[in-house]
Amino acid sequence: MPFKVLISDPLSDDGIQVLLQAEDVEVHRQSGLSEAELCSIIADFDALIVRSQTQVTKDLLSHATKLKVIGRAGVGVDNIALQAATELGIVVINAPDGNTISTAEHTMSMLMSLSRRIPQAYLKLKQNEWDRKSFVGVELNGKTLGIVGLGRIGAEVAKRAKGFNMQIVAFDPFLTQEKAEKLGIRYAGLETVLAEADFITVHTPLLKETKHLISHKQFELMKQGVHILNCARGGIIDEDALYHAIMNKKVAGAALDVFEIEPAVNHPLLELPEVIATPHLGASTVEAQENVAIDVSHEVLHILRDLPFKNA
Ligand code: NAD
Ligand code: MLT
Repeated sequence: MPFKVLISDPLSDDGIQVLLQAEDVEVHRQSGLSEAELCSIIADFDALIVRSQTQVTKDLLSHATKLKVIGRAGVGVDNIALQAATELGIVVINAPDGNTISTAEHTMSMLMSLSRRIPQAYLKLKQNEWDRKSFVGVELNGKTLGIVGLGRIGAEVAKRAKGFNMQIVAFDPFLTQEKAEKLGIRYAGLETVLAEADFITVHTPLLKETKHLISHKQFELMKQGVHILNCARGGIIDEDALYHAIMNKKVAGAALDVFEIEPAVNHPLLELPEVIATPHLGASTVEAQENVAIDVSHEVLHILRDLPFKNA
């Protein structure tokens, strides 16, 4: 009997090809299923491959009697009930490297758009208004970029921001002096990073410990007129606290790729002219989607075949 693999979110064709070429695998592609629909079919499958849309809940897993592996085509596994999967002996793997560069580049695009108010000026011009007075920006040159979470993406952002002659100060509980020195950045505690930075970008996973890591108290520590970026996960920054910090002029601008609840439409933050946003596009490049799809498909095959695998 071939292994049955369900792909429940859009996945790059290159990854699907890896699975289609495997003689011992039968591939089923069904995106946009409700949780109830998924619950009704999941018992048939040996493997499930998801991106961020499918919520792999404890309830769904309780129906997954045959499931051996869940593959996440991307980094964050916050849409997967990890503890329930572990208790049921289901392996969860992700693709940790494939979208690092794309997400770092997206963060830099947001940083530049934010500092020069490009999306706001673009909108005005599209409405046929030639407004040069309202969009005076600030330079990045010589400014301090605070990075919270100096893992793969945070480190790539640091390298690129140095190219703009920014000073980098970073907080990460696992950052070593050696890594900081190698990257030519300064290591500091979270409070110092928040107090010294002109721009603050978060690159942690969303965990119990990082939920609302940046909230009312943390905004109070920041410089007047600070700029904030979140291209990691909605929920790391408390959205209510951010709204208030913008309203009381503590925060001059915010760039958000991610939201606590997605899709984020009719969101109060999107009403504010200080906020620029993209709909979770950090990893949306041809290259990143190919990389993560190929990586996760190979890993899923290894697990189905009881071969050694990398990313548990
Ligand atoms: P990573 O694991 O390489 O780095 C995360 C870093 O955060 C680690 O160094 C870790 O030590 C640090 N960290 C953990 N808890 C912290 C805390 N309390 N304070 C400060 N630092 C803390 O992961 P990565 O590849 O750099 O990705 C980071 C996150 O970005 C992912 O978990 C994912 O949620 C998100 N992401 C978003 C997109 C997007 O499309 N917007 C794309 C890729 C990844
Ligand atoms: C990730 O965690 O890899 C990102 O959010 C990107 C994605 O899900 O496409």
